Amino acid sequence: MNAIAIDGPAASGKSTVGFTVGQRLGFVFFDTGVMYRAVAWAVLEHGIDRADGEAVGQLAEQLRIEVDAPASDLSDGRQATILVGHVDVTWAIRSPRVDSIVSVVAANARVRRELTRKQRGIGLAYGSGAAGKAGIVMVGRDVGTVLLPEAPLKIYLQAPLEERARRRFRELVERGREADYDRVLEDMRLRDRTDSHRALAPLRPAEDARQIQTYGVTVEEVVEQILALAAALLGVTPTSPEE
Ligand code: CDP
Repeated sequence: MNAIAIDGPAASGKSTVGFTVGQRLGFVFFDTGVMYRAVAWAVLEHGIDRADGEAVGQLAEQLRIEVDAPASDLSDGRQATILVGHVDVTWAIRSPRVDSIVSVVAANARVRRELTRKQRGIGLAYGSGAAGKAGIVMVGRDVGTVLLPEAPLKIYLQAPLEERARRRFRELVERGREADYDRVLEDMRLRDRTDSHRALAPLRPAEDARQIQTYGVTVEEVVEQILALAAALLGVTPTSPEE
């Protein structure tokens, strides 16, 4: 199967690195976090108490979440277009409010069951060449451990908390959002803790994952490391960066 699993904590570089690796290999790129974010967005939208496991679970089972390739005339930097029903939530799911509740929502057993089923289906389909795709790069928290444990290449990205908070703060400022660095840092610390300590599919490297530090190295260097591993383990050849 042509699948690359990339896991790691918040802002460790998963989407930037994963997206580029996908482009260079002609693989589909799929960010599993957007689906948890979409459920969290809907929880806020419906005024549901995030601690009400029953209501949150039911909502997740009813929600229609769509992840599409962006329309070719869109140039706002999105990697995918995320729809909940007919609403484009691509940027709304990146708000600090969603950040602050998403990991509680993602610890809900029914939410996980629902999204795990869908995501594993997506991974298996593209990993085995569905729709003429060469493979899939899937990024998240439990791709190597739960979603696609059979992926021949598993990566776990790491970076110090303060560095990751700086990255997230910069992203928010660049998008013209009001952001407070200390708040971003504290939210991220809490989210890391919830993600790593939950009972179901906690964030941790798969036993056979290659751990890569993304602090102090360029995105290109990390991408090249992963491409070299992909060539060795999957036998796939990347296009050159400018193609
Ligand atoms: O971009 P960032 O790393 O900040 O977060 P994300 O990848 O969009 O994921 C948001 C949240 O969704 C995480 O903090 C997890 O609580 C949850 N998540 C998960 O539980 N399992 C996944 N496979 C992906 C995300």
